[in-house]
Amino acid sequence: MTTPLRLGIAGLGTVGVGIVRIVQKHGDLLAARAGRPIEIVAVSARSKSKNRDVDLSGYAWEDDPVSLAARADIDVFVEVMGGHEGPAKDATEAAIAAGKDVVSANKALLAVHGQALAEAAEDAGRVIRFEAAVAGGIPVVKALTEGLAGNDITRVMGVMNGSCNYILTRMQDAGLSYEAVFDEANQLGYLEADPELDVGGIDAGHKLALLSSIAFGTQVDFDGVELEGIGSVTIEDINQAADMGYKIKLLGVAQLTGRGLEQRMSPCLVPDTSPLGQLEGGTNMVVLEGDAVNQIVLRGPGAGEGPTASAVMGDVMDIARGFRISTFGQPAGTLRKARPARAAVPAPYYLRMQLLDKPGALAKIAHALGEAGISIDRMRQYGHDDTSAPVLIVTHKTTRSALDEAIAAFGSTGVVAGDPVAIRIEAV
Ligand code: NAP
Ligand code: HSE
Repeated sequence: MTTPLRLGIAGLGTVGVGIVRIVQKHGDLLAARAGRPIEIVAVSARSKSKNRDVDLSGYAWEDDPVSLAARADIDVFVEVMGGHEGPAKDATEAAIAAGKDVVSANKALLAVHGQALAEAAEDAGRVIRFEAAVAGGIPVVKALTEGLAGNDITRVMGVMNGSCNYILTRMQDAGLSYEAVFDEANQLGYLEADPELDVGGIDAGHKLALLSSIAFGTQVDFDGVELEGIGSVTIEDINQAADMGYKIKLLGVAQLTGRGLEQRMSPCLVPDTSPLGQLEGGTNMVVLEGDAVNQIVLRGPGAGEGPTASAVMGDVMDIARGFRISTFGQPAGTLRKARPARAAVPAPYYLRMQLLDKPGALAKIAHALGEAGISIDRMRQYGHDDTSAPVLIVTHKTTRSALDEAIAAFGSTGVVAGDPVAIRIEAV
């Protein structure tokens, strides 16, 4: 009889219960593939009495996840509680100190404390795996650390928060405002307990910071992610962008440039015919680009019981098979400190403004853009009311600072009503 791999699972919510179900349903299959049985030994959650619709009677119960993490009879500590401080951090540290490998779905913990945890794990000869933390069921961490290990990665990009993509596509399909769809999504239970984690881009920013570290060999730097949520996206911009051939997505982009590491999570326009433009509803998509492979596109469910537990089990199976890899794909001590880029690489921008219907108004705007060194690629103006008209401009590549200079100059032209909207267009 081969030695089983023994799991302790902290957290019996959506993901934890999903892991229990897979282990119970696929015991024989997992054992055949790993060459040894996978056993759950002990579990922990806040409430022992809660009905979780799954049989936990065969497992020891621990009230305290830190005690679970240090149990002598577990090999792997599976952390699926959440949060970047408190029990998740304490228990993960306790597990490493007690000589356990760790599998985590917790992007917040790893984005904030990933470097210190990776160093501690390596000092202790242990591994931390976190496939489930990024894009749920999509094996993107494996793709980067293993399949693309021979590439110099040039760009990582993606839609990594299903709730935001749901909101943006639902706004477009139903012609509803952000506020209306936010309320709907909240009532349907699609948003995190603190919705700002989703709509503020924080959850997706955590995921991007983790992928950046692997892709560029830098210490995970969540503080270096330029974050902008979807709260300011209006149905008007969604409709106008669609008319110009674009979709608005909460897009994460990471690339290493001459100016440093650029990490952005913000609403962007992408061509509506591109794979990212075609992504509907709560699905995730990650685009990886490397010097040898060119580009690969991974698409799939970014959340939910089955997909997330599937990713956790992929990591568990690697450990069971004896496959061990550094947390961020290379020894933690060799990861360079990230140097955040102060400015994003130039890109085309979408500009929308309400222009007073007066002779020479457009010329004044064109002049302000020209003075800032910005060239117009495309322009459209229709739908006048009595006094003004919406004007849409797609610029050639420019910097955000040049654009801000032009927008500031619009103010003194006396022909722009209200605040112009500027959204970056990402080449995908
Ligand atoms: P969840 O449904 O809210 O479950 C959290 C679990 O942790 C619950 O069982 C809770 O106990 C337990 N817990 C919380 N605080 C605890 C404490 N102090 N001591 C012991 N147990 C504690 O969360 P989830 O959706 O499964 O997510 C778990 C992790 O996976 C998070 O890091 C999340 O970001 C990540 N993740 C989730 C998804 C997803 O689709 N849900 C996708 C990717 C990654 P009680 O049940 O007793 O309250
Ligand atoms: N709130 C996240 C999402 C869940 O909507 O994608 C998975 O991380």
